[in-house]
Amino acid sequence: MFTWVEDHLKLSRAWKSRECLDANSQSAALQSVEQFHTPISINPIFGFEIMRITVLRLGHRPERDKRITTHVGLVARAFGADEILIDGRDEGVVESLRDVVNRWGGSFSVADGIVWRDELRRFRDSGGKIVHLTMYGSRIDDVIEEIRSCERIMVVVGAEKVPPDVYNMADWNVAVGNQPHSEVAALAVFLDRLFMGKELNRDFGGRLEVIPAARGKVVLGRRS
Ligand SMILES: C[S@@+](CC[C@H](N)C(=O)[O-])C[C@H]1O[C@@H](n2cnc3c(N)ncnc32)[C@H](O)[C@@H]1O
Repeated sequence: MFTWVEDHLKLSRAWKSRECLDANSQSAALQSVEQFHTPISINPIFGFEIMRITVLRLGHRPERDKRITTHVGLVARAFGADEILIDGRDEGVVESLRDVVNRWGGSFSVADGIVWRDELRRFRDSGGKIVHLTMYGSRIDDVIEEIRSCERIMVVVGAEKVPPDVYNMADWNVAVGNQPHSEVAALAVFLDRLFMGKELNRDFGGRLEVIPAARGKVVLGRRS
């Protein structure tokens, strides 16, 4: 019998690495899809795929935002997003995020030097939906189910001041509470609500893997 999270993620990985799924796996997974209303879309060719999530980090200032942009990237990866695009150039941030992917696994990708307006247009024109996280937006609980039904979303988080066009181009302006806080916190809570907490059990298949322990540090190392 399929346990939803593990098998859902296995299927997603299988799709990403183009492994074939046998008929039994497909039908068992379909039952689990029907049983739980989850952020899954059914790919007619490869089987099953988790919603694809791009995070767009706006307004990165290399002289002061290195740490926070790195944390936006780390949270994006750890909480189930597929890639981060950084508005601005910063080789150091890109390298440190890629280094984490290299050691800790997953297929998260990182790109900088993004022209945000072009990127948002292209994403929208290709059928993706845009979610802008802002304290001024709609309550997350009022829109999260609708967002969960999308196949591809771009989650936009700002730095200091976000240009008005972003509010207009977004399909949803979403508030994680209507108080000012942080892009790192807003992204973490948003993704966790989107995946209903299940993203935390994901297996990244990395060279390094933590074995949960009540005390001390237990880390598995793999050769490849
Ligand atoms: C330093 S804050 C700037 C706060 C800004 N006044 C705003 O529009 O939310 C940087 C980023 O954190 C995110 N953020 C901060 N508070 C938020 C909240 N309550 N809900 C959603 N996102 C928030 C937004 O993406 C914002 O662009």
